[in-house]
Amino acid sequence: MKLTVVSPLLFGFLSITQARSITKEQHSVPALSNTAVSHKFSDWLSAFNTANETTIVDFYETHYNLSNVDVDVETNNTTHLAMLFSEPIQLVWMANWTGGFEFVDVEPGSEHSDTSITVLLKQKTHPGYFRAKMEIDDEQPGQPITKLDLEPCTTPLRVIPMDHPNRTLYEKGLQPLTPTLREKLIQNIVTVLREQYIYPQQAEEKIAILESNLKSGKYDTIINSNDLMPRLGADITNISTMGSRTYEQIFIAYHEPYNLHLNSDAEIQVETNWLEEYFGHTGYGFGNVSLNTEDLPGRIVASLPITHLFSIEEPTVLEAATRAMNSVSDADVLILDLRNNFGMSAATAAFVLSYLFDEQRALTTLLDRDGNVQNTTSTMSIEELRARGVVYERIFGGSKPVYVLANNNTMNEAELIAYTVQKYGRGVVIGEQEATGGWASPQAVRFPLCEEEFGEGWWSMYLQTSRLVHVATGTNWEDVGVKSDVVVEETGEEEHCHHKGRLAAIEMEKKKGIVVQDELR
Ligand SMILES: *[C@@H]1O[C@H](CO)[C@@H](O)[C@H](O)[C@H]1NC(C)=O
Ligand SMILES: *[C@@H]1O[C@H](CO)[C@@H](O)[C@H](O)[C@H]1NC(C)=O
Ligand SMILES: *[C@@H]1O[C@H](CO)[C@@H](O)[C@H](O)[C@H]1NC(C)=O
Ligand SMILES: *[C@@H]1O[C@H](CO)[C@@H](O)[C@H](O)[C@H]1NC(C)=O
Ligand SMILES: *[C@@H]1O[C@H](CO)[C@@H](O)[C@H](O)[C@H]1NC(C)=O
Ligand SMILES: *[C@@H]1O[C@H](CO)[C@@H](O)[C@H](O)[C@H]1NC(C)=O
Ligand SMILES: *[C@@H]1O[C@H](CO)[C@@H](O)[C@H](O)[C@H]1NC(C)=O
Ligand SMILES: *[C@@H]1O[C@H](CO)[C@@H](O)[C@H](O)[C@H]1NC(C)=O
Ligand SMILES: *[C@@H]1O[C@H](CO)[C@@H](O)[C@H](O)[C@H]1NC(C)=O
Ligand SMILES: *[C@@H]1O[C@H](CO)[C@@H](O)[C@H](O)[C@H]1NC(C)=O
Repeated sequence: MKLTVVSPLLFGFLSITQARSITKEQHSVPALSNTAVSHKFSDWLSAFNTANETTIVDFYETHYNLSNVDVDVETNNTTHLAMLFSEPIQLVWMANWTGGFEFVDVEPGSEHSDTSITVLLKQKTHPGYFRAKMEIDDEQPGQPITKLDLEPCTTPLRVIPMDHPNRTLYEKGLQPLTPTLREKLIQNIVTVLREQYIYPQQAEEKIAILESNLKSGKYDTIINSNDLMPRLGADITNISTMGSRTYEQIFIAYHEPYNLHLNSDAEIQVETNWLEEYFGHTGYGFGNVSLNTEDLPGRIVASLPITHLFSIEEPTVLEAATRAMNSVSDADVLILDLRNNFGMSAATAAFVLSYLFDEQRALTTLLDRDGNVQNTTSTMSIEELRARGVVYERIFGGSKPVYVLANNNTMNEAELIAYTVQKYGRGVVIGEQEATGGWASPQAVRFPLCEEEFGEGWWSMYLQTSRLVHVATGTNWEDVGVKSDVVVEETGEEEHCHHKGRLAAIEMEKKKGIVVQDELR
């Protein structure tokens, strides 16, 4: 389905850009008004849409002056993306990701200002719209851009044709907020918080804030869900925990349901290609194994960098993990480099750990508020690995020395690997800092809100409903991180420099050798 309503405006927009390159006088376009800021915007969009770094950087350097902008980076404003685009290279990535923007229209009401404009844009290679707000300073020479906000936004009703089959779903999801709707929404949030949030006391504190704001009329003037969402998000976010290592996983979301997106003809290919490319570029998370026979004469020292723990359910990831883990099976010493690994999949962490034990080991349990076990994870036994066809002959196994290199960017499931190796006494954690990042929160769970009122998929709340506990200790590494057994400061510049950590591991192995020889004497 083509949005024919868009085309004349788009045509107008294109003609303005072309006209400008011929002569400054020749444009009269209904879509973009004839204001200084609209010309600046069309120039910006032309530059942006080239997705060419040189062009975008040049444009940025000539046309921006952000020095006098009071960038509003209040940490409680979670929707404010302006800072994300304060560097031209971020715009280049954005242009690449979106495939550029198609101009849709000028936001009604914003067409008359000389210095500020809000424009609706459509991504070319993804579904979904963006709203761009540009401000210029017309008193400075060249009328530089002083502000440019680019935010994803819901499809405005005005661009949805009256006869579109899903129009009524949009009308429901985008309806203006009445006092009753606001109250129902808050009540629903309160119920979810009270019944589900893993921290009951904090739930009550958050509830008190929401209820008091509702009662005292703080939300009364907000009639658009797009505006209420960040406001509620800010109200339930605990400012006092921000900046600490605790990552409070709780947020409220309002967005267009993905299956409703209108420009589905653009939905296409790109996403999967892009992901595949990204995965592939990182070796699916598993770097190249190096086998060294010189550091410890007569023994093979294997070093394996694992940079990401993508889902092992992906066949390409499984294949890379299998190849990597099998290629170290004959080594005498294994050094796992988990520095800067942010984790992602617990199953992938468990898969890696399966190769480091001779028998199956319990790893984690998820406990709900009442201490009931929701889920458990464990390594796979060698029989299970064989049954899955992922072991070639033998595995590295449970007796040869293991060293884990970590730093404070080792997070989540990567920390699970380090923690397990350490707490089961399986090996030594060599850290660049005293401890790893300290993230052990289970993924937030989604709860739909007010579906009856707004329809499926518009409003939802995400929060943590369980606590992760490691079976070896009955606790976890939240906040404190995995404490390094040995701290080795890495000063090298190289991206994959793990020289000092590796040397430390080798030294420890050599010393062990001496101890053993001493004992034999
Ligand atoms: C980007 O633009 C510059 C200047 O117009 C041009 O020389 C260069 O070839 C372009 N790069 C690409 C990758 O198209
Ligand atoms: C940027 O704006 C500031 C404040 O208005 C001004 O002093 C400065 O000269 C401007 N810089 C450029 C390169 O125009
Ligand atoms: C953000 O937090 C500050 C300080 O905590 C507060 O003064 C401000 O009103 C908050 N802003 C919003 C939009 O909630
Ligand atoms: C985006 O980046 C990818 C890989 O970095 C490149 O192959 C592709 O041509 C780029 N697309 C555009 C529109 O620049
Ligand atoms: C905010 O965090 C502090 C410190 O962790 C805690 O004492 C307080 O209960 C929290 N408040 C809310 C509303 O979550
Ligand atoms: C967040 O920042 C944006 C952009 O400045 C603004 O439109 C919005 O109202 C802000 N939200 C809150 C909750 O302050
Ligand atoms: C309408 O919405 C349904 C999901 O509710 C979706 O499957 C369908 O593709 C949408 N139709 C159009 C034309 O966007
Ligand atoms: C592994 O080595 C090959 C050949 O040197 C290289 O092309 C590739 O990028 C490396 N993979 C990773 C993930 O570093
Ligand atoms: C529990 O484990 C199963 C199987 O591993 C998994 O599919 C599910 O998502 C897990 N549930 C939670 C709450 O983590
Ligand atoms: C991680 O360690 C580096 C170097 O020691 C330090 O500069 C940085 O602040 C640390 N980051 C965190 C989040 O602690």
